[in-house]
Parts: sequence; C-alpha cells; structure tokens
Amino acid sequence: MLTDEQIKILKQSAKSNIVEFGYLLEQRALLMRELEHAQQGQHIDSEKVVKYGSEAGKIEARMTWDQAMAMLEVRSTLTDKQSQALLDLRNQYTLNTTSEGDTRGIERGRQLYSQCTLCHSSNSSIAPTLNGIVGGKVASDKKFRQYSPSLKEFSLINPVWTDNLLDQFIKSPKIWCLERIWDSRACKEVKIGKH
Ligand code: HEC
Repeated sequence: MLTDEQIKILKQSAKSNIVEFGYLLEQRALLMRELEHAQQGQHIDSEKVVKYGSEAGKIEARMTWDQAMAMLEVRSTLTDKQSQALLDLRNQYTLNTTSEGDTRGIERGRQLYSQCTLCHSSNSSIAPTLNGIVGGKVASDKKFRQYSPSLKEFSLINPVWTDNLLDQFIKSPKIWCLERIWDSRACKEVKIGKH
C-alpha cells in the first residue's frame, strides 16, 4: 500500500526513536533512583530530580514530534488512491458499521481525533489545547506561547473558531501556512500563503 520511499521515512523515524527511547529509560531510571531515596526518608537531591525529570520530558516531546513529522511527511506524499485504501483499512478496524446515527458520528470523531492528540494532548507543550475550541477564540491558549505570526494575524480577522472555520482549517491546514509546521521537512515543497 505504501511505496518504498514512504516506508523508509517511517522506518527512519522508528529508528531514531529507538535511540531516544534508550536515553529516556536511562533518565527515568536515574529519576526513580533519586525518588526512592525520598521514599526511604533519605536526603533527596532536588536539582537532580528536576534535571532528570525535565530531560525525560524533553526526550518524550522530541519523540512525539519526530513521529508526528514522519506521519505528516508520509501523508503529504500519499496519492488519493493510497489515502482511500488506508482509510478503508482503518475503517475495517475502527468503524462500527452496525451502529447508526449520532453515535456513529461521535465515535468516528473520537477515532479521527486520535490523530490530533499526537500533538494536542492536554499535557503537551507542542501544540495549544483544543479544549473548548468550538466557539472559542483563535490563538488564545494562554499557556501556549509559540503561536505563529500567521495564526495570530489570522485571529485578528477571524477571532472565533466557528464550525465552518474549523471545517476549512481541518480540511486543509496547509493553505494556512502554519509556519512552524511549515518549515518542517513535511511541507517544504509546498509554498502557499503570504510567506
Ligand atoms: C504535528 C503536530 C500537530 C498535529 C498532529 C495537529 N496539530 Fe493542530 N496545531 C499544531 C500547532 C503547532 C498549532 C499552532 C499553530 C500556529 O501557531 O500556527 C496547532 C493549532 C491548531 C488549531 C488552532 C488552535 C488555536 O488555539 O486557535 C486547531 C483548531 C488545530 N490545531 C486543530 C487540529 C486538529 C483538529 C488536528 C487533528 C486532525 C490537529 N490540529 C493535529 C500542531 C499539530
């Protein structure tokens, strides 16, 4: 279903993740050892705890980002036929075709949303939170400090995420020129928008 080139991208990402994973386990082990000291009532070196903890967090973020980028890169090279085949395959496993109406729509949404939580999970600093996004203000997550100038500029013209706006955005985020996603490998050959 995927071409050799596409498979290579995924394999490369998996490979680099294995290296990161090894490092992650190491940092976690160091962190656990330090925390065990505390459990045993011994002195605990808080500087070390912060160091190992933040290092582990950074590695996790890098791994997630790397995976997401590989997925995006593959997705941007998929032909319509490949996309359809992949969708059909996924539906076989995820879509309960016997249920009907709203339940099915909600369930389908939940499944599709799993693609988004790669970056938009509640404890992620990679992307803004999507909680309450429908009807909410564009680019207004106070905890997320890295909104691109494009999205901020966009928010001046379109302050609120209406259903319609979200539909367009989700359908084709590329034309929005989200810079930070843009300058990634995934989108390098596509040049749309003002920048
Ligand atoms: C590769 C990581 C990644 C994935 C996967 C991803 N996003 Fe995003 N998303 C971002 C980043 C980064 C931003 C901020 C963009 C900017 O500032 O230009 C963003 C912004 C948004 C915004 C605007 C938020 C706001 O505060 O106004 C919406 C809505 C959104 N994404 C929806 C989605 C949906 C729906 C999906 C799944 C179909 C998705 N995203 C998948 C990284 C991601």
